Amino acid sequence: MSDRARQLTRRLEPWIPARSHVADIGSGTGHNAECWRCQLDASVDEFDVADLHWVGDGPMIFDGRTLAVSDANYSVVTLLFVLQYASDPKGLLHEARRVSAGRVILIQSTYRGIWGYFWLRVRESVWGPLAYGVARIAGIVKGPSCSLKSRTLFTREQLADLVRQTGLTVIQFEQESWPGMSISRDLYVLECAVRPSTSPSSSPLAMKSDG
Ligand SMILES: C[S@@+](CC[C@H](N)C(=O)[O-])C[C@H]1O[C@@H](n2cnc3c(N)ncnc32)[C@H](O)[C@@H]1O
Repeated sequence: MSDRARQLTRRLEPWIPARSHVADIGSGTGHNAECWRCQLDASVDEFDVADLHWVGDGPMIFDGRTLAVSDANYSVVTLLFVLQYASDPKGLLHEARRVSAGRVILIQSTYRGIWGYFWLRVRESVWGPLAYGVARIAGIVKGPSCSLKSRTLFTREQLADLVRQTGLTVIQFEQESWPGMSISRDLYVLECAVRPSTSPSSSPLAMKSDG
């Protein structure tokens, strides 16, 4: 996991300026956040629907939809290999946009054609529950409900459409293909050109001050 975090960090380093304030949504084991703290001198807050952390202090647990964080609180927000698990991927991407004052960085596996769908479906069905089972046996997670059950697999076009619907500006797109599998790990670096308007009832802080 540390090697994987270092590899991911090499890919993301140009887009996470040193000493950024980062929200890592769906932080998983915490290896990525830890790597950014050490290598990029970033201050990183981790958020997840389950506590799967092996390193660091662990995530703030949230409901997978709304973060108890004010608008534009972070300079960079990351969503790495998370959207497939969300019950409302578009809503989660909007939430990432809301809490970012600058960038949203998205990495997501996408597939092409029937074979791509098949391989990605197999990978997701095996990898997620297996990783969760191992983490439970190792005592890292306690709860019986697995947060690694894929709900949505995206084609590149579907993911691009989702990104378009958030109104974020794409400043970088990169694909990273898995040879022979019609699967790619697509990277989007997105910027908030215009801030979304937040209705008082949808803002967690506004809700607090109401009460
Ligand atoms: C495949 S892991 C990726 C972890 C980390 N981002 C990485 O790339 O190493 C997916 C993570 O997303 C979390 N997750 C699942 N549903 C989520 C949701 N609706 N919102 C945020 N995180 C979620 C899981 O608990 C898990 O930690």
